[in-house]
Amino acid sequence: MSISPTRLLILGAGGQLGAELVRRFAADPASWSVASLTRAQLDLTCEEALRQAVRNHAPQILLNAAAYTAVDRAESEPELAHAVNATAPGILAEEMAQLGGWLIHYSTDYVFDGSGTTPWRESDPTGPLNVYGASKLAGELAIAATPARHLIFRTSWVYAAEGRNFLHTMLRLGRERSNLAIVDDQTGAPTSAEAIAAATLELALRLRSGFSPPSGVYHMTCSGETTWFGFASAIFAAFAAQLPPPALKPLASADYPTPARRPQNSRLDGTRLAETLGLRLPHWQDALAAVAASLLHTTAS
Ligand SMILES: NC(=O)c1ccc[n+]([C@@H]2O[C@H](COP(=O)([O-])OP(=O)(O)OC[C@H]3O[C@@H](n4cnc5c(N)ncnc54)[C@H](OP(=O)(O)O)[C@@H]3O)[C@@H](O)[C@H]2O)c1
Repeated sequence: MSISPTRLLILGAGGQLGAELVRRFAADPASWSVASLTRAQLDLTCEEALRQAVRNHAPQILLNAAAYTAVDRAESEPELAHAVNATAPGILAEEMAQLGGWLIHYSTDYVFDGSGTTPWRESDPTGPLNVYGASKLAGELAIAATPARHLIFRTSWVYAAEGRNFLHTMLRLGRERSNLAIVDDQTGAPTSAEAIAAATLELALRLRSGFSPPSGVYHMTCSGETTWFGFASAIFAAFAAQLPPPALKPLASADYPTPARRPQNSRLDGTRLAETLGLRLPHWQDALAAVAASLLHTTAS
């Protein structure tokens, strides 16, 4: 007997991760009946519209990839960041508790204060350094305060073939300048939206088959670690045939002041994700190679 497609609602469909989730899930219509909404179609700060959208679609799984992600701007727009990143996820969880479905939500390494050099575990104390991190942490807590079945995936340094991200900023700056100074004292794992979406799909297929893991927070990043300087070096190496690499100079965060402070140690420990959910993401260099290959293919065709 075949199982009918699982109803899925994806929010933030215009973002890097949301677009990738839509692409992956929509490719398997036998398993998924996908509805997706962009910001233009649903503003998460409008509570009534948000509740109504969830009730209308009645998803069995809700994927929330919408977020206020402008880390520096959040310092001057704390209320808006909180509305999108904290209040809205709590509302989504309340609605999903009513429906009895799963809420899959994404959070960030910026919930930590960046001290030490060992990878953060889910049980470690949080201590956000900036408004964005505090708003994302408040969103995690708002979800956990409801009875909704939920998985919160904390990820880091997200980029994709499309969207506003470090990869595209580097390629643009590399075309404009022959010398670049890049921060070299923040360590973490660049994680492609493709890798997050692939892991989310794998997990969702298991939820669809009746797997019922413990609700809670899981760290989901590509494996390995580097600094922004290391990530930039790898980006220019991957595109060296198309773009003469600029000269790169390592920079201390203190010499690159930004409105929001950022954690120096953004390493996230993926043990819980592997042991409890059976999910492992690729090494960040392999994920970058895949994104570079798809970008180079698009440019060539
Ligand atoms: N990007 C990173 O480096 C990073 C790192 C760690 C964790 N994360 C988390 O990963 C998840 C996905 O991030 P991403 O990189 O895909 O971010 P993104 O590309 O900025 O996408 C976020 C989406 O949310 C939308 N959005 C913002 N405000 C909204 C509102 N009021 N109502 C409805 N939609 C709204 C944005 O629309 P507009 O584009 O129109 O504003 C955008 O389409 C988020 O939970 C984020 O916090 C990201």
